[in-house]
Amino acid sequence: MDGVTVIDHPLVRHKLTIMRRKETSTAQFRRLLREIATLLCYEVTRDLPLQDTAMETPVGPMTGQTIEGKKLVFVPILRAGLGLVEGMLDLVPSARVGHVGLYRDPETLGAFEYYFRAPEDVADRLCVVIDPMLATANTAVAALDRLKERGVDRLRFVCLVASPEGIERLRAFHPDVPIWTAAVDERLNDHGYIVPGLGDAGDRLFGTR
Ligand code: URA
Repeated sequence: MDGVTVIDHPLVRHKLTIMRRKETSTAQFRRLLREIATLLCYEVTRDLPLQDTAMETPVGPMTGQTIEGKKLVFVPILRAGLGLVEGMLDLVPSARVGHVGLYRDPETLGAFEYYFRAPEDVADRLCVVIDPMLATANTAVAALDRLKERGVDRLRFVCLVASPEGIERLRAFHPDVPIWTAAVDERLNDHGYIVPGLGDAGDRLFGTR
């Protein structure tokens, strides 16, 4: 699939399998989501440009390398995207965090924005939009639209589980935005849930159902 990277590292597969089990507790689900977020972050940052920097170790001079330019912004789609933030910040502690609150209407599955906050210089940064589930892609498309309105032109999308329908729709609306996912499942059901998926990621993360 063009523009889609499936992160099938054994650790990711193992942790995702435990998360999918219906008997997995809220505490376990939350911890595993944070751990997988760190592994996904490692992959989505793999090609960041570096710059040389002259430095000294206790033994002598050398040329080291640091990440070039302004750092990242992680943009979780509320609310389930929050479960990925801490794991990503574990690896990139200096990253900024923006928030997009999008409500998915249970009848129409359309996306309605109720909150948006991003750093002032968001347009100068690489934005990594994060949401555990890429289902219909309505919320993902709306979040990316909003960031583009703010002038962001370097965007990436990271999720845990994607549907083939969601990937197709996101790629159709935003072909310039590459996708990283840990799995591509079979399909969407009539309620817009991914099958077999893992259920409602927000409810499982926050224990609300
Ligand atoms: N959102 C979820 O949390 N799970 C799905 O399967 C689809 C959308």
